[in-house]
Amino acid sequence: MNMEVHHSSKTNEWATPEDFFDKLNKKYHFTLDPCATKENAKCKKYYTKEDDGLAQSWENEVVFMNPPYGREIKHWIEKAYKESLRGAVVVCLIPSRTDTRYWWDFIFPHASDITFIKGRLKFGESKNSAPFPSALVEFNKRQLKTTLNKNVCIINCSTIIDKEVFNERK
Ligand SMILES: C[S@@+](CC[C@H](N)C(=O)[O-])C[C@H]1O[C@@H](n2cnc3c(N)ncnc32)[C@H](O)[C@@H]1O
Repeated sequence: MNMEVHHSSKTNEWATPEDFFDKLNKKYHFTLDPCATKENAKCKKYYTKEDDGLAQSWENEVVFMNPPYGREIKHWIEKAYKESLRGAVVVCLIPSRTDTRYWWDFIFPHASDITFIKGRLKFGESKNSAPFPSALVEFNKRQLKTTLNKNVCIINCSTIIDKEVFNERK
C-alpha cells in the first residue's frame, strides 16, 4: 500500500474513513480501488473518473469499492457483480438503501455476504455522521449463497470491524 496516497484524503466526497478501511484491509488485502481520485485512493492501484473504473477490467483483483453515490451507483453494483463472476472479490461500501432496484436485482440474489452497519459512518474528514446508514456487501463467487442462505451480519460503526467479528462469522 502506498501510504502517501492512502493518507492524503482531503476531499469531501464520501471518502471512506481511514480506520474503517484499515481494519477491513487487514482481512482482505485489497489490490484495487476502482473509483477514486489520486487524493482519496485506498490502494496503490486505482482508477479515476478519467480512467473510468466502470470501463476497466477488475478480473482477479480484490476490490474495495466505495462508489459515487449518485444515480450511477446502480451501474457500479452491476459491475461489481459481473466482475465477481470473472474472479474478482468485490467488497462494496454503500448506502443501505434496501428498497432500491440494485439491492433487489444484484445484492439480495448474488452477494455472498451482507453486513449492516449500526449507526452512521463519518466520511472523509467530516465531524458529522452521514445522513444515511451504510452496509458492506461482498460479491465472491467462491462463496455464493442463495438468497435465503446468506451471511447477514450487523456491526456497530463505533467498534468498526474487529477481526473477531469476522472470525465469528466464517
Ligand atoms: C465515494 S468516493 C470514494 C473515494 C475512495 N475510493 C474512498 O473509498 O475513500 C467515489 C469516488 O469515485 C470517483 N469516480 C466517479 N466516477 C468515476 C469513474 N467513472 N471511474 C472512477 N472513479 C470515479 C469520484 O471522483 C470519487 O472520488
